[in-house]
Amino acid sequence: GAPVEVNISKVEPGQLIRVEWRGKPVWVVRRTEAVLNGLASLDGQLRDPASEEMQQPEYAQNAARSIKPEFFIAVGICTHLGCSPTYLPDSFGEQVEGVPSGFFCPCHGSKFDMAGRVFQGVPAPLNLVVPPHQYVDDNTVLIG
Ligand code: FES
Repeated sequence: GAPVEVNISKVEPGQLIRVEWRGKPVWVVRRTEAVLNGLASLDGQLRDPASEEMQQPEYAQNAARSIKPEFFIAVGICTHLGCSPTYLPDSFGEQVEGVPSGFFCPCHGSKFDMAGRVFQGVPAPLNLVVPPHQYVDDNTVLIG
């Protein structure tokens, strides 16, 4: 499939937009500073905080899992059995479904943080997949 160009200039802090790439849903989430500041503190609750158990672009192997920390880009498919996780917006500090903020899969209860990193003790075996992508300019990202 061809790469998909996405204009990110109108994505508000806390907002998630969906695009399609190779027939899959891809999310672009603009993270707030509060969310970014909280990511590293979750490491101890996660199964694979540095994404070492999966093949990922190098820029996805850290707490933020992105090129530009503000923008998180991931395939919106649960790594357990392929359901679509629900975005629990930007509520860092307030727990929703036991997650400070992030993604909750309603099928079997897997929980992911705002970098798509899976929490311990849930069925999903891996973090959400970060697709290969690059920035063409400040407002445009090319996915694929
Ligand atoms: Fe997401 Fe099973 S498909 S938890």
